[in-house]
Amino acid sequence: MSKIGFGIDVGGSGIKGARVDLETGEFVGDRIKILTPKPATTDAVAETIVAILDQAEWDGPVGITLPSVVKNQHAHTAANIDPSWVNTDLTELFSRYLPERRIHVLNDADAAGLAEVKFGHPDASYGSVIMLTFGTGIGSAFLQDGVLFPNTELGHLAFKDSEVEKYASSAVKDNEELSYTQWAKRVSKVLTEFERLFWPSLFIAGGGISRKSEKWIPKLTSTTPVVAAELRNRAGIVGAAMAVEQGLLP
Ligand code: BGC
Repeated sequence: MSKIGFGIDVGGSGIKGARVDLETGEFVGDRIKILTPKPATTDAVAETIVAILDQAEWDGPVGITLPSVVKNQHAHTAANIDPSWVNTDLTELFSRYLPERRIHVLNDADAAGLAEVKFGHPDASYGSVIMLTFGTGIGSAFLQDGVLFPNTELGHLAFKDSEVEKYASSAVKDNEELSYTQWAKRVSKVLTEFERLFWPSLFIAGGGISRKSEKWIPKLTSTTPVVAAELRNRAGIVGAAMAVEQGLLP
């Protein structure tokens, strides 16, 4: 019988959770989504996570993603989430809301990268791969032969008097009403900068906009191959469920 886990992906607009078949990377049953509370304070998000687990009737271990740097199960940053997350002891927070449970928290892009390695594009497991998630911000996961180097935060690399994610996230595309051609030019500049610094063998493009990859990946002018993520919006949840199963404690 397959092993089943549970993952929760905390995003800016929704908090999503599902049972995951850890052998196939598929969801078992429906994905549950609850709108992210506003403000998305630590307590409000923890309460929403409890509501998802109650609705799913899941009482086993849980993997949780956050759009934050997570080190030693402490959140250190909060770029696109409520500032109350900075310096939060995640073990203490979640053991208050979910006592007696194994909970592992990790960065959202790191979770997506782990899921892509296991269940996504076959080339994701070899060489030096950079996964990027384009959304409100830009998340990154560095994978060397499938092994994660966590918390790389490339979205915050200084770029053009600002930072990468303020120049080329998909939220910027929407807010500035950029065409795919205009946005792809910006993404190309960012990828070219990453090439200059890290010389990866492959970029994997994830986030919601990877669903429309045919509209922009062919327009990129950087030299490293770029493939669209295969797990689409499943990646965060699947990676979270994998992390708790594997005992990854970033
Ligand atoms: C955060 C990252 C996160 C990314 C995508 C950035 O603003 O700093 O931790 O992975 O957004 O959500």
